[in-house]
Amino acid sequence: MAAMLLKGGEAASAVMKEVAAGVADLARSGYVPGLATVLVGDDPASHTYVRAKRRDAAKVGIRSIHHQLEEIPSQEELEDLVNGLSADPGVDGILVQLPLPEGLDEGRVVGCIDPRKDVDGLHNENLGRLVAELPGPRPCTPAGVMRILSHYDLPVSGKRAVVVGRSFLVGKPLALLLATKGADATVTIAHSRTVDLESLCREADILVAAVGRAKMVKASWVKPGAVVIDVGINRTAEGLVGDVDFAEVSEVASAITPVPGGVGLMTRAMLMSNTVSAARGNISGLGGVG
Ligand code: GUN
Repeated sequence: MAAMLLKGGEAASAVMKEVAAGVADLARSGYVPGLATVLVGDDPASHTYVRAKRRDAAKVGIRSIHHQLEEIPSQEELEDLVNGLSADPGVDGILVQLPLPEGLDEGRVVGCIDPRKDVDGLHNENLGRLVAELPGPRPCTPAGVMRILSHYDLPVSGKRAVVVGRSFLVGKPLALLLATKGADATVTIAHSRTVDLESLCREADILVAAVGRAKMVKASWVKPGAVVIDVGINRTAEGLVGDVDFAEVSEVASAITPVPGGVGLMTRAMLMSNTVSAARGNISGLGGVG
């Protein structure tokens, strides 16, 4: 393997150290941050993710308030729950695990989260702040990708970045973060309708795969020496695999994130970081996540 391994565990533990220091600081003022998690339905992957998030919270001293709705609620019932959490002074951050079961309108549910408690950075107000380059919580996976790049001192400025995937959870916000002032990449968002995706990917200095298709990105798609970030987590017969064919691509790339052990760990760490920021905003009375 030629590529440097970008270990999510290493970068995430640096973030978690900062988070623990932030929680200790709040504890000196007698404040314990609270993170509410809302899990609807019985998707096993979502259950695993939320369990891990709650475990992370417990580890750093963040109080977790969990709502598990095995029986699918109506849109109104779910919105009532989220509105209640938004109004609850004991709740600093709210995470509604996505995707929601079919029939529930995610946008409307996320819209019920008080933007100051939106530790996922997915409320329209916070996505607007991202576009406007104003301070605010950034979506956790995109923020985690940026942090892994900075943790390993990988240059972004002036680089050609291709983000494959245009989801509101990952692809679009990540493209904005890469292009934002200070990061300064030149970014292309590619998707299922992109013509000659392989050639486009081969132009990338930084290639991000966030599509949810196991081992889609092959060595022939990657410019020699490129940095490859794999956001995919696909459950297959051979276990968890990313959107990148790791065995092949790691022979061509200069640096690559593994799956598991890569971006997923960063998502969780950034959630804890956003929760501490939200709690700080809450006790300062100013609101907002900086
Ligand atoms: N499902 C997969 N990733 C995420 C995430 O970052 N936040 C939420 N709320 N749901 C997710």
